[in-house]
Amino acid sequence: MTDLWQNAMDHAVALARKAGSLVRDAVQNDMKEKFPTHSFIGEESVAAGEPCVLTDNPTWIVDPVDGTTNFVHGYPFVAVSIGFAVDRKLEFGVVYSCIEDKMYTARKGKGAFCNGQILNVSDQKEISQSIIATEFGSNRDTEVVDKIFSSMRKILCLPIHGIRGVGTAATNMCLVASGCVEAYYEIGIHCWDIAAGAIIVTEAGGVLMDVDGGPLDLMSRRVVAANNKIIAERIVKEIDAFTPLRDDAS
Ligand code: IPD
Repeated sequence: MTDLWQNAMDHAVALARKAGSLVRDAVQNDMKEKFPTHSFIGEESVAAGEPCVLTDNPTWIVDPVDGTTNFVHGYPFVAVSIGFAVDRKLEFGVVYSCIEDKMYTARKGKGAFCNGQILNVSDQKEISQSIIATEFGSNRDTEVVDKIFSSMRKILCLPIHGIRGVGTAATNMCLVASGCVEAYYEIGIHCWDIAAGAIIVTEAGGVLMDVDGGPLDLMSRRVVAANNKIIAERIVKEIDAFTPLRDDAS
């Protein structure tokens, strides 16, 4: 039987591919041309064998498509994530949640915004009244999956109001900045997934830490982003931490 819609689907796949390569070219090649002395860390460049080392040089930390699995399945949360660091400190971050058409921005010391509207984290201090965002991640090693489930189980049973996750780390962090969820944590993300979101969270009044309660290390592939220290530290107590290979390990 003739498949009526195969032609349309082929067109959709071609369109998605075109959109993906446009975004990649725009954020990667364009920056290299405009700021030739700057360094660049991006999911694609690292996959192509370029170094993933954060130095004092002005550095773009970019994920052209955060939420790749969502993108492939048409699940409607996909973000472009662009962080910029100087002397290893984030100066600004831009997260564009493309399907929702939400442009999140933050510049150090100047606040965080979504489509021009100022963002503030939630003022909730009670973990039992909180929503926590997290993800299952992409590692299917059973020991890792067990730890992820165990942490979620403990956090859910504190109890909390609920667990959410939209499939992009950058957008999850923007939801913390927007006050929709009190915190987001994950182990296994990469620096390009969280760099932009990190400064958006702090400029909205939130806090960042490692899953063991220490300071956030962008290269460690572990993050807790929360509305305040009380919520962050309460979550940290319940996380079964593990240590993925660092982004700057090779
Ligand atoms: C992924 C997303 C996802 C998170 C993964 C990331 P990618 O990034 O941010 O939410 O759970 O850990 O790797 O691969 O779509 O750029």
